[in-house]
Amino acid sequence: MSLPPRAQAPIGIFDSGLGGLTVAAAVARALPNEDIVYLGDTARVPYGTRSPATVVRYARKNVSFLRAKGVKLVVVACNTVSAQGLGGLADGSELPLLGVIRPGVRAALEVSRGGAIAVLGTPATIRSNAYEQAIHERVPGRPVVQIPCPLFVPLVEEGWLDHDVTRAVAKEYLGPLADTGVDTIILGCTHYPLLTQVIRETATELLSPDVVIVDSASAVAHSTAILLETTGLVRSAEGGDHRFFVTDAPDRVSSVATRFWDMGDARSFELEHVDLVDFNP
Ligand code: DGL
Repeated sequence: MSLPPRAQAPIGIFDSGLGGLTVAAAVARALPNEDIVYLGDTARVPYGTRSPATVVRYARKNVSFLRAKGVKLVVVACNTVSAQGLGGLADGSELPLLGVIRPGVRAALEVSRGGAIAVLGTPATIRSNAYEQAIHERVPGRPVVQIPCPLFVPLVEEGWLDHDVTRAVAKEYLGPLADTGVDTIILGCTHYPLLTQVIRETATELLSPDVVIVDSASAVAHSTAILLETTGLVRSAEGGDHRFFVTDAPDRVSSVATRFWDMGDARSFELEHVDLVDFNP
């Protein structure tokens, strides 16, 4: 049996949980011919409060699983994983890995009017300093204000997207940004795009109505398209098949998943279960 050419293989995308579906949806919209295999490590989410070593260990398993599914590249949709650096995930093979930090920074610098840039992320992402470093690689000395927002992920998972508690938490987190000259806020976490409305209202009230909020999902989709082109991996045949794997029982999370997989159509999807604890490719 002949193996399919690599370009026909699916794109692999993984996240600590379901938030990465915001990135997968953007990739699916931008590249409708491409097949996608998504993995959400729902049994071990959240990663954002764990140590770097644990995050990297979990992420390596996720990459192995996607490799075993025959993917042609891996999009690391999780900011917390991307922030630890993709070098720790490389296993000596040629599989290209794409993280979310650089695309998000590029998108922010495109819209920023030269003011300070705020980064909202999980404690692990903020501790890593990855966003600040990526901004300073491109614009040395640009002021960056980083805010860990540990309560945002559970609030999104709870579905409290338009809730007074969420608004109060957003005020608490964005309060320190007053008088910092911030003109752009990067949503440095897969879950935060669902809080865009609350964050925008809070920024308007506490900072300025002109603050731009950047979510990296579409920037990541754009980078994925470029990577496929430059590596000759664009799928030539019609595809668009999407498979979704989770590491915990699917029924527990399927209603949350539909919130993240916002494809703007009636397309439904099925979550398949995989147990990664004993997974040895
Ligand atoms: N996916 C994570 C991120 O983008 C958020 C959820 C978690 O803490 O695992 O940072």
